[in-house]
Amino acid sequence: MKKLPTYPLFPKGLATGKAFINRQADRAELTDRILRLEHTWIAAPRRYGKTSLLEQVCVDLAKTRAQKSTQAIHTCVIDLMLVRDIEVLQKQLFAAVSSLLVQLEPAHKKLLTLARKYLDKYVKELTVGMEGVSVSLKIDRATPDSLNETLLKLDKIATDHNIRFALIIDEFQKIVDLPDSDIIEGSIRNAVQQSKNVIYIFSGSRRSLLQRMFTDKRRPLYRLCTQLTVERISEEEYKKYIDSASRLNWNKGLSEAAYAELFAATERHPYYINSVCRKLMRLAKCPTAADIQEVWREVVDEERHWLVNEYGNLSTTQAIVLGALARMPTAKPSAKAFTQFAGLAASSVKSALDALLRDDHVQSKTNADGSTLYHVLDPGMRYILNSELS
Ligand SMILES: Nc1ncnc2c1ncn2[C@@H]1O[C@H](COP(=O)(O)OP(=O)(O)OP(=O)(O)O)[C@@H](O)[C@H]1O
Ligand SMILES: [Mg+2]
Repeated sequence: MKKLPTYPLFPKGLATGKAFINRQADRAELTDRILRLEHTWIAAPRRYGKTSLLEQVCVDLAKTRAQKSTQAIHTCVIDLMLVRDIEVLQKQLFAAVSSLLVQLEPAHKKLLTLARKYLDKYVKELTVGMEGVSVSLKIDRATPDSLNETLLKLDKIATDHNIRFALIIDEFQKIVDLPDSDIIEGSIRNAVQQSKNVIYIFSGSRRSLLQRMFTDKRRPLYRLCTQLTVERISEEEYKKYIDSASRLNWNKGLSEAAYAELFAATERHPYYINSVCRKLMRLAKCPTAADIQEVWREVVDEERHWLVNEYGNLSTTQAIVLGALARMPTAKPSAKAFTQFAGLAASSVKSALDALLRDDHVQSKTNADGSTLYHVLDPGMRYILNSELS
């Protein structure tokens, strides 16, 4: 009888706890930065594991809190994915304050007193729902000033209680699309600069956009935070984890040929590795390289709809360059060999490539010899373009 764990070994959603593979160095680094009050920004392509890492670090920090040997660190992750205007952003920040208050004082009556002490004019009610108690905070009209005030209050609460609070803002790139985004960034900058006990972690995809937000002299958030890069998980770490899953499932490990096929197809993209392995676990026998090839095709087929949609949204020259890179990854996109293959002038290749890099369709990878290879970032996209354009 197989003794498979009760948690999903290869989750489709966030990976935390035992399903979280490695990233020891990133976890330790981020925890350390939080302890040192070093504000941080993280940018990595879509579905690389940013949110899983952030949630895992919150779990790690909750454990240090239980040890009570250091100043307690409380955390809250807010997600700006659906933020379309300043009102919703304000609501999210209020949710962070409410979360901190509840962490500090879970008892009803005292919680209300605490909330009133700091945010009297905004406290509307205390609600008890399925997920526990929460303080509902409301404002008539959100403004950059009210955002700033909320963040400063958060710091005041943390300082008064001698705790640290890590405010983790996921999908931060959404800020740029808001009306008056510059003023909003400015109000956040002001709060970050004044912060004593709140540590800010900004995370998101669209790396070039975040890069500009944090490293362009003309932008409010310039030089306030240090970058943390999230890379793909190494082959060794994946092998360790997959090997024990394989032994649990089939009483034997995968062959070297099977691993080679898995890593070549998925390029160790965490989302695709999990999708393939989830399907493999349903096979009766330990998979061979050929089984992996077949499952990989099934996975890409399931992603096909949105991949084709993404491809359809590209300009004609971008689509041509992406198609050419899928078949011919290159270190020299302006060289004749590539421009002739793509059938475009070098200048057209350059501007299309800039846009593809900016939007994370293409990635540049530095090789051991220092050369840079340009290739399609999403392995599913690469596979579709490669097989259908060849
Ligand atoms: N450390 C990890 N161990 C195991 N699986 C992981 C790990 N990190 C990410 N994954 C898997 O990769 C996929 C994407 O993870 P996650 O949602 O955390 O990424 P993300 O970068 O936040 O994505 P998005 O840009 O869509 O918000 C999920 O299937 C998740 O289970
Ligand atoms: Mg995420």
